[in-house]
Amino acid sequence: MTDSVNLNTDLTKDLGIEYPIIGGPMYPCGNPELVAAISNAGGIGVVQPITLTYVNNYEFRAGLRYIKSLSNKPIGMNALIEQSSKRYRQKMEAWVDIALEEGVRFFITSLGKPDWVVEKAHNHDAKVYHDVTELKWAQKGLDCGVDGLIAVNNRAGGHAGKRDMRELYELLSGQGKPLVCAGGIATAEDFIAALKLGYAGVQLGTRFIVTQECTASELYKQAILDATEKDIVMTEKVTGVPVSIINTKDLKEKGTELSGFSKKMLKGKRSKYLMRMLLAIRSFRQLKASFQDNSKGPKYWQAGKSVAGCKSIETVDDIIQSFVKAA
Ligand SMILES: Cc1cc2nc3c(=O)[nH]c(=O)nc-3n(C[C@H](O)[C@H](O)[C@H](O)COP(=O)(O)O)c2cc1C
Repeated sequence: MTDSVNLNTDLTKDLGIEYPIIGGPMYPCGNPELVAAISNAGGIGVVQPITLTYVNNYEFRAGLRYIKSLSNKPIGMNALIEQSSKRYRQKMEAWVDIALEEGVRFFITSLGKPDWVVEKAHNHDAKVYHDVTELKWAQKGLDCGVDGLIAVNNRAGGHAGKRDMRELYELLSGQGKPLVCAGGIATAEDFIAALKLGYAGVQLGTRFIVTQECTASELYKQAILDATEKDIVMTEKVTGVPVSIINTKDLKEKGTELSGFSKKMLKGKRSKYLMRMLLAIRSFRQLKASFQDNSKGPKYWQAGKSVAGCKSIETVDDIIQSFVKAA
């Protein structure tokens, strides 16, 4: 039996939500129905704009309106700050503006300098939380005025950090901002452990892929259910930066290393931007095809070590209620 924990935290107060649970942005897995279900269940679903437009084929504003037709609760948006392309930056700025016009009041920034997102968001009383893996990145975000930090640990899906959740809490908790634990949360016990450590909330990715609302292919969902922690490997092969991925048969055969040419290009001062862009474009295509299972090519299925706690496909509401009841 666990002692009860307080679900009314700085995160729930900041975002005006019932439970301190964020459905993390996911390329390519964050379909509109999943985002809406997480918000409807009392957490907050976060839109990944490239998922909404490229995977789910919505014009951005129309996609947001569709989500709003499924839920009248708060939702968030992921603003990946990319320095390498001016066109991408303009696109992201336009998406942030549209999101604000459509009433989105929560942004998660990752990578780079989030100053321009903070400026736009704060003009509308919206909150910005910044994904970080180290103190130096937290400092950079705080210098830009972010309202909270998402501490991405070494068990996370996507671009994982190097430190465990306890180490990261100790490193980042003195900053006077709400701290969210991202990585390794799949069960009510994981959720309670994070809150007991002092985190103001949790951000989940992998657990929400194995839900009825997520439109990932059955093969992808089954691969998560079958996987153990040991099957999760970090590879630069997909995007050029390390991501957590299931070590499938294909990947075992082909290896998780980038080609010598790609590595060389990523080392060059100028060529690294071009290489990153090329890898990003290729990875968007490969990840989408793997997610939908409509290609014969190798399967690139991102997931974190929280696969260990993913035992069955449930509804989002059942998962969130199981956390809440246990707390
Ligand atoms: C398939 C997948 C795709 C992800 N894509 C993104 C993304 O596009 N942007 C982002 O900020 N985080 C992304 N993440 C990270 C999640 O938002 C979240 O922080 C992470 O999944 C938490 O770890 P967990 O998977 O152990 O729950 C992704 C995670 C997964 C599993």
